[in-house]
Amino acid sequence: MPIPLIIDTDPGLDDAIAIALALGSPEVEVIGISTVGGNTNLENTTRNALRLLELLDRADVPVASGHDEPYARAKQETGNPPVHGLDGFASVDLPEPKTSVVSTDSPAFMADLIRNSAQPVTLVAIGPLTNIAHMVDRFPEVVPMVGRFIIMGGAAKTGNVTPVAEFNVWHDPEAAKVVFASGLKTVMVGLDVTHSVKTYETEFEWMANHGKFGEVFQQMMKYYTDFYSQFYGERMTHQHDALAMAEAIWPGIMMLEETTIDVETRGELTDGMTVVDDRDRKGRGRNSWVAWTIDGDDFHVRLRNALGALAEPFRS
Ligand code: BDR
Ligand code: CA
Repeated sequence: MPIPLIIDTDPGLDDAIAIALALGSPEVEVIGISTVGGNTNLENTTRNALRLLELLDRADVPVASGHDEPYARAKQETGNPPVHGLDGFASVDLPEPKTSVVSTDSPAFMADLIRNSAQPVTLVAIGPLTNIAHMVDRFPEVVPMVGRFIIMGGAAKTGNVTPVAEFNVWHDPEAAKVVFASGLKTVMVGLDVTHSVKTYETEFEWMANHGKFGEVFQQMMKYYTDFYSQFYGERMTHQHDALAMAEAIWPGIMMLEETTIDVETRGELTDGMTVVDDRDRKGRGRNSWVAWTIDGDDFHVRLRNALGALAEPFRS
């Protein structure tokens, strides 16, 4: 039986790949998508989720929108050009969605799905943790019902927005702090592992004869690669969200270490830092696992298979 999966996301170019990876993998069944503000505003991330599902002929997957504003502070700017373009989807040519959200209260939507699932749900968050923090605040009874909880976020070592903070946690540190303290045992797929895998544009060449699917995904990955090449001097990307999704689909695909994690919310230099306390110095107990390594070649084979399955109906 496939694992029921809820995706909380801010699409986002690498979010799009991650969602497609899940939809193309028979090991999981995507039972709901929740949208959050992050890579772009909530209106755009919700529109993108709906447009993507329609492109993939999966408008049957229910989408609920959640929070735009961070949990306890105002939105802040990274100071970088927008990584995912102004609309979050590199302005690719995708029609306006015909479908709409089933709810504008995604914390309640997720809690209902968790409560009503016959099998424990895997919850995967690949954007800021705002919606998840509100869910655990309002519906703490669902916390022990969650099967696994995976996030793309944080970094034990080096950040990407600041020297120590990763974007999803940096965007809403208070939410991340609430989530790490919630009793949800978090698998933190952070930059330690996502920066270890390089995905080259050639990875998407096979899509060329796959009609609208190929056109949209290749345009997205070209934009994302152009952005990366300005910073890294190489035509490659890090597929942060698809890597976290891989751990949700194939538990144990990464080397994980059980540990204690908290989030800095006040530091002048360290705001948004995920502090990994391998010795649990305050005796709070192990609240998470940190992901350290993955076999990048194996990840790419799995990614190709899943996207290939989804793209098949578009083949010309
Ligand atoms: C994370 O930030 C976003 O830009 C990506 O979608 C990913 O979730 C990487 O730091
Ligand atoms: Ca994301």
